[in-house]
Amino acid sequence: MKKLTCLFYFVLWFSCTYFSSAFASNSISILYDSQTNNSELMTGWGFSALVEKGSLKIMVDTGWEVDKLQHNMAEMGWQPKDITHIIISHWHPDHYTGLRYLLKKNNSIQVFLPKDHSFKNSNNIQIKTVDGHLKIADDVFVLQTIPRKSGGGIKDELTLAVFTSEGPALVSGCFHTGWPEMIKKVGELSEKKPYLMVGGGRFIDNTESELNDIAGELQRLGLKNVGLAHCAAGSLPEKVFVKYFPDHLIKAKLGEVINIP
Ligand SMILES: [Fe+2]
Ligand SMILES: [Fe+2]
Repeated sequence: MKKLTCLFYFVLWFSCTYFSSAFASNSISILYDSQTNNSELMTGWGFSALVEKGSLKIMVDTGWEVDKLQHNMAEMGWQPKDITHIIISHWHPDHYTGLRYLLKKNNSIQVFLPKDHSFKNSNNIQIKTVDGHLKIADDVFVLQTIPRKSGGGIKDELTLAVFTSEGPALVSGCFHTGWPEMIKKVGELSEKKPYLMVGGGRFIDNTESELNDIAGELQRLGLKNVGLAHCAAGSLPEKVFVKYFPDHLIKAKLGEVINIP
């Protein structure tokens, strides 16, 4: 009888573990941005997103004001101990400032930084300066690119690329490299059309005619879904992009959770 009970609990444990990982949903949660529809969250200038891919919890950027990041993470059910990787897209304070706080709380996080970072590693944190494309897990890459334009003279930019069954999903803070240019870059690694891009884009600096050119090119390149966030969001970019992606303009404001395949 005792053996049967043990067997029962083993089967129960195995089923829960196996099925929960087999059917775990992959998603992108926006933890830091200047716009939100959720009044419980704290907005601020900057960007942070948490990408769940199976057991991996990869944070792209860490926002600017630590208390806001901390608050938003807690409200959305996340703690620093949950994070497995952090990628800082580029060395601007609205993207990297929360990093030291997260590492203080969890020093086992693997960190990926652009080449022009000035982070002082005092606690034997696992830090990799990325030069070229780097595979961090099956179907998960960090892409290194040279920014085409940048507000603050940055020399390097990193983008998280998750290769889903429906094409690559790309997440970065500002896409200073350029949105179409990023799609061409990821095309070197995948023949599939990109499934999704989420992040900023300095679209706040563009005229309506320039935005039409960018959105039109993204459509021609086969991008399926667009998530305008941070410096890509705003009434003018949204007005233009909705013409090209009427059913595929995804909300990427603070507090949104975007499911990916
Ligand atoms: Fe930014
Ligand atoms: Fe930036």
